[in-house]
Amino acid sequence: MTRRAVVAGIGHYLPERVVENAEFTKWLDTSDEWIRSRSGIERRHFAAEGQTTSDLAIRACQAALDNAGCTIDDIDALVVATSTPDLTFPSVGTMVQHGLGMTRGFAYDVQAVCAGFVFALTNANALILAQQADRVLVIGAETFSRIMNWDDRSTCVLFGDGAGALVLEAQNGAGTSADRGILAADLNSDGQYRDMLYVDGGVSTTGTSGKLKMQGNLLFRHAIDKLSSTADTALERAGLGHEDVDWIVPHQANIRIIQGTARKMGLPMEQVIVTVQDHGNTSAASIPLAMSVGVNRAQIKTGDLIVTEAIGGGLAWGSVVLRW
Ligand code: UT7
Repeated sequence: MTRRAVVAGIGHYLPERVVENAEFTKWLDTSDEWIRSRSGIERRHFAAEGQTTSDLAIRACQAALDNAGCTIDDIDALVVATSTPDLTFPSVGTMVQHGLGMTRGFAYDVQAVCAGFVFALTNANALILAQQADRVLVIGAETFSRIMNWDDRSTCVLFGDGAGALVLEAQNGAGTSADRGILAADLNSDGQYRDMLYVDGGVSTTGTSGKLKMQGNLLFRHAIDKLSSTADTALERAGLGHEDVDWIVPHQANIRIIQGTARKMGLPMEQVIVTVQDHGNTSAASIPLAMSVGVNRAQIKTGDLIVTEAIGGGLAWGSVVLRW
């Protein structure tokens, strides 16, 4: 018997306010055509005034718990991937824990920007394998609208808000790649690329939360190679190849990066879950959001082999291979 961390349920929450590309043309020199053709984005959701990252995360967790058929009493730990916490501290994790009425177990945040969910999922898998927890809520939740410079057309049209969560639970497998659950992962970072994507404020520098800055075209050049190679490494560690993959669930930053990565992996777009048109780039929330939408669309089914891959600020990038 091999202990595995298996997805028992998934859910997501998107704020009510939907902003179409055309809205930005009211104050920026941009167009729906530019945003669509360069990024694939058509619309995104923005949190309401006063609505925080933990608010979005709590809604996503409730949906995931319902989908798993369990309650918060069945959960031992929460791991939240976010770069847009409500406060500098305490963690969004503990706020979500409190919001869900949980007074036992433990909760904390993981910060790896757009790759955050891949890092959080790997971390939660390790907790389960080390028998620190039997059931973990793994959450990606962001309010990137709060760190936009609304006069910077090269960034503010690209990001959105949202949250996705999944319940990961310990189950016994046979120890083969036919098992359900997380089969392998690959994590990477390289701080020499800091200036490609960062926020120009922080506690120990400006004392403000700052605004996002990105050299998108430089980052674009790294994305496809790093994403396809991390996915290949994770697949190899699982003893699997491209032919075994049912779905790629990529970070949703840009349709051209998503297409380029799939092409490099030799997989057709019919095997890729795409939500970037409706959500924009929701950073650490994008993968669990896409997984949840993929399940709702009846694309992802029990037993399917899923490859996730993400890259973002740091740079940080990685991939998780799991059987649904
Ligand atoms: O999630 C974290 C990871 N993030 C990413 O992976 C993002 C990676 N990068 C990208 O997705 C793309 O690089 C962008 C979508 C950000 C930009 O697309 P691009 O094809 O690389 O465009 P560019 O930055 O090279 O800009 C091309 C032109 C520039 O004008 P000039 O210098 O050629 O005259 C920009 O000023 O497009 C201009 N531009 C815009 N025009 C209309 C930049 N933003 C806009 C805009 N509307 N919103």
